[in-house]
Amino acid sequence: MTDAPGFSTLQLHAGAHDSEVDPSAAPIYQTVAYQFRNAQHAADLFAHEKEGNIYTRMGNPTQQVLEERVNALEGGAGALALASGQAAVSHSVLNLVSRGSEIISSSHLYGGTYNLFRHTLPRFGVEVHFVPPNDPEAIRARINDRTRAVFAETVANPAGTVLDFESVAGVCSEHSVPFIVDNTLATPYLCRPLSHGADIVVHSATKFIGGHGTSMGGVVVDGGTFDWTSARFPEFSEPDQSNRDIRYALDAGDVAYIARMRSQLLRDLGACISPFNAFLLLQGLETLSLRMERHVENARKLTHFLQDHPRVRNVHYPGLPNHPHRVLADRYLPRGPGSVFSFEITGGHAAAVDFIDSLRLFSHLANLGDARSLVIHPASTTHAQLSEEDMRRSGVTPELIRISVGLENLEDLKADLSRALERG
Ligand SMILES: Cc1ncc(COP(=O)(O)O)c(C=O)c1O
Repeated sequence: MTDAPGFSTLQLHAGAHDSEVDPSAAPIYQTVAYQFRNAQHAADLFAHEKEGNIYTRMGNPTQQVLEERVNALEGGAGALALASGQAAVSHSVLNLVSRGSEIISSSHLYGGTYNLFRHTLPRFGVEVHFVPPNDPEAIRARINDRTRAVFAETVANPAGTVLDFESVAGVCSEHSVPFIVDNTLATPYLCRPLSHGADIVVHSATKFIGGHGTSMGGVVVDGGTFDWTSARFPEFSEPDQSNRDIRYALDAGDVAYIARMRSQLLRDLGACISPFNAFLLLQGLETLSLRMERHVENARKLTHFLQDHPRVRNVHYPGLPNHPHRVLADRYLPRGPGSVFSFEITGGHAAAVDFIDSLRLFSHLANLGDARSLVIHPASTTHAQLSEEDMRRSGVTPELIRISVGLENLEDLKADLSRALERG
């Protein structure tokens, strides 16, 4: 076979396998530590002179298969799996900053990332500038010597904002600033940010990658193309005194970024993924392409159905012809812009919560990317902590409802929505 394997092949086969036992599925290595063959072997592992496992906080063979598989699907140089998507987002930035650093972020963000950027990072002396999505001039105006990264999401809810990769990546590369993209809602099946100019990709694997609402996990993928010898990142070229004086930009080849994250942050912050969760996320990955096709098909049909309903006002889904980002969605997500969307119903806050309470098939919970269809009222839950101004800026109104469409029969989903809408 000379050509690179296709997506469906990689989602089943990419990643290391145990060569002695040769199991068909990746085994769950439910262990904390690994036997050293002798004192020399232990010393060699600690000195990085031999490859192998020492302690599961720093790495585990089940985790490694997950890392290799997501890395192959995203087209990266290396990946690190972590305990949650939030750990992936925070590590992707913490790997680049120190006190006095600055980040520039799209203001259309998942609420947890917003909190991290708005409240937690500033406590550690890291300032985050929020800019409107897809505004290269606003980014350019904020870039200075302290800027360490630009952050955005491929598709951001609740407005269904689609990232204009070309314009944002253009400013980043002009100024040699790494571009981090959260690709959770799209997954590598619908969009591969590294091929559109991103340098680093992050995922909440808890969502569509796992796909069944059972397991937390996150992954950071290093594109391997950013030049970490740049004067903006002296710490990547200076010896790491906590790790045998390794100079990541010079000694770790094209995986300098992810090697530093694993050696320092995973070791020191301890957000390692459980081997069992890594196994379940791998199992989810095996059917990712099939599930995403059905997720998108159901979302396309349901959003059209809702758009025509007299009680529905605005449906925010970039797959609809009248969505302001439809052109961007067609360019960067030709297979479809995922299955998360939102809409407003007539009757305000009371009508919105009454509608949610009337649904029977949709699960009412705080998650997305499950095989089951999910619903939530953002203004009173996921976005309740935002100020009125920030809520308005992120497009959350009192009557807004967010849906993550699952894989059920379309007619059953329509019937459930119709019944709940007709109550009002
Ligand atoms: C876009 C996005 N990024 C990151 C996260 C955080 O992921 P996790 O809940 O796995 O920590 C979420 C969670 O909803 C998300 O939607």
